[in-house]
Amino acid sequence: MRTAVYPGSFDPVTYGHLDIISRAAAMFDELVVAVVRNPGKNSLFSLEEREEMLRECLNGLHNVRTAVFSGLLVNFLRESGTGIVVRGLRSVADFENEMQMAAVNRTLLPGMETVFLAADSCRTFISSSAVREISALGGDVSAFVPVCVLKKLQVKYGSLV
Ligand code: COA
Repeated sequence: MRTAVYPGSFDPVTYGHLDIISRAAAMFDELVVAVVRNPGKNSLFSLEEREEMLRECLNGLHNVRTAVFSGLLVNFLRESGTGIVVRGLRSVADFENEMQMAAVNRTLLPGMETVFLAADSCRTFISSSAVREISALGGDVSAFVPVCVLKKLQVKYGSLV
């Protein structure tokens, strides 16, 4: 049984994340999409809301489950009994950050692997912060996020998005 973990903030989940999730789910027996409690980031959505949105979006992917974690990713990997992490790469900037994170994680947990999936070319420009900003300013983000996320953004900002 090959389990991989796809960690992230998912604040909120976007079509870019969902592209990586569906492709990773086809590569592993089980994929755990793990929402991080990141004290360094000022999140729009609570940890519970972020996981709930993911769950709604993942309806239909039978081998994908969600989880939340605090602290080090490597500790979550140990708890989950897996040493495989999936990350998406959208740009050279992502590549530099991801290489550093992969190296740090591998030093903390020798033998773990980070598998990188190149973002679909039509998804490389999507980011959660852009979605938040456009929504806050009343713009239409329906090209970037599924309907269940759109509705949550609408509630957050108290307006049509
Ligand atoms: N499609 C769309 N957006 C994507 C994306 C994709 N395929 N891949 C990344 N992003 C975006 C996210 O939307 C997010 O956008 P934002 O910053 O504009 O909101 C940004 O890229 C980065 O988000 P994310 O992938 O969630 O990374 P992160 O930096 O928030 O968290 C963790 C990455 C969870 C892997 C890392 O923080 C972690 O491991 N934390 C635990 C603590 C730890 O172990 N630290 C030591 C590791 S060095």
